[in-house]
Amino acid sequence: MTDGNELFDDLPVQYFPQTISQGGMGQVWTQHKAQLIAKYIYLFTIITHHGAYIDGFAGPKNRDLEDSWAAELVVQTEPRRLREIFLCDLDPKKIEALHELVARQPDLEQRHYEVLTGDFNDRISYVLASGLIKEKTATFCLLDQYTLECHWSTLVTLAGHKPVGARKIEIFYFLATGWLHRSLNGHTVNLDRPDVWWGGDGWKELLSASGEKIAIRMAERFRDELGYRFVKPYPIYEREKGGGKVMFHMIHASDHPEASKLMARAHRNVTLAPEPLEQLEMELSQIDP
Ligand SMILES: C[S@@+](CC[C@H](N)C(=O)[O-])C[C@H]1O[C@@H](n2cnc3c(N)ncnc32)[C@H](O)[C@@H]1O
Repeated sequence: MTDGNELFDDLPVQYFPQTISQGGMGQVWTQHKAQLIAKYIYLFTIITHHGAYIDGFAGPKNRDLEDSWAAELVVQTEPRRLREIFLCDLDPKKIEALHELVARQPDLEQRHYEVLTGDFNDRISYVLASGLIKEKTATFCLLDQYTLECHWSTLVTLAGHKPVGARKIEIFYFLATGWLHRSLNGHTVNLDRPDVWWGGDGWKELLSASGEKIAIRMAERFRDELGYRFVKPYPIYEREKGGGKVMFHMIHASDHPEASKLMARAHRNVTLAPEPLEQLEMELSQIDP
């Protein structure tokens, strides 16, 4: 006997994209960027009890600034629910730092760690071909580029990895809205770089747009061209408490209906005392992974 619903278990779920709204756009402080990502993944893995982390531009930007290195915070977050960790960088010095980070970990036997040297735009195919990022693997990918290093085609590859109907790889994408105009203007002779970054010459329309408009435009592309259901651009400010100018935006793209709530909670959390794990487990266990 079936109740009828089981007949449809294998059908892909149809997801409908949301509108991109700036309402409730959190103020994310630059000092808290790495903590925010680590906290979000921590909350998410309380629901899923597993997860994979891909960091495409993983080397530390500033080793002297404590708690500012995303890869370090994510890898060291307790409980250690992430099972697969891929860390990539182009710079041999940063690769050394990444190897040191991995060597310090107490769970080398339990987790799959991989440090990848080279251009992430090439290395991503190796990561996805590893067979470790499966249809049901909750996967988070941080793309913390300087300005134009992450190719649009890499985003297409990440978004298209899982079969239709499965929740796509979540992306945290750094968009350098604070210095993008300067950088794009500097490339008006050599058009290759922005063309590859944007995936065509559409970036020229950005030259006359404000940073905020560019962030919304990019978020719309994540929704409309990459097919993410929930996309939100978060401004990252120059100083604490939303002070100074917006340095850049972080675009968070997910297919999980709880993503924005978890992000808002993570944001509150990085500035407040942590909630007890038992309390979180009780509340978050109601959510369908
Ligand atoms: C903004 S930093 C990353 C900061 C880091 N996520 C943190 O939390 O401190 C950008 C990194 O990307 C690396 N990089 C630049 N181009 C790259 C490429 N094409 N592929 C991989 N890594 C690249 C740089 O060497 C640098 O370590």
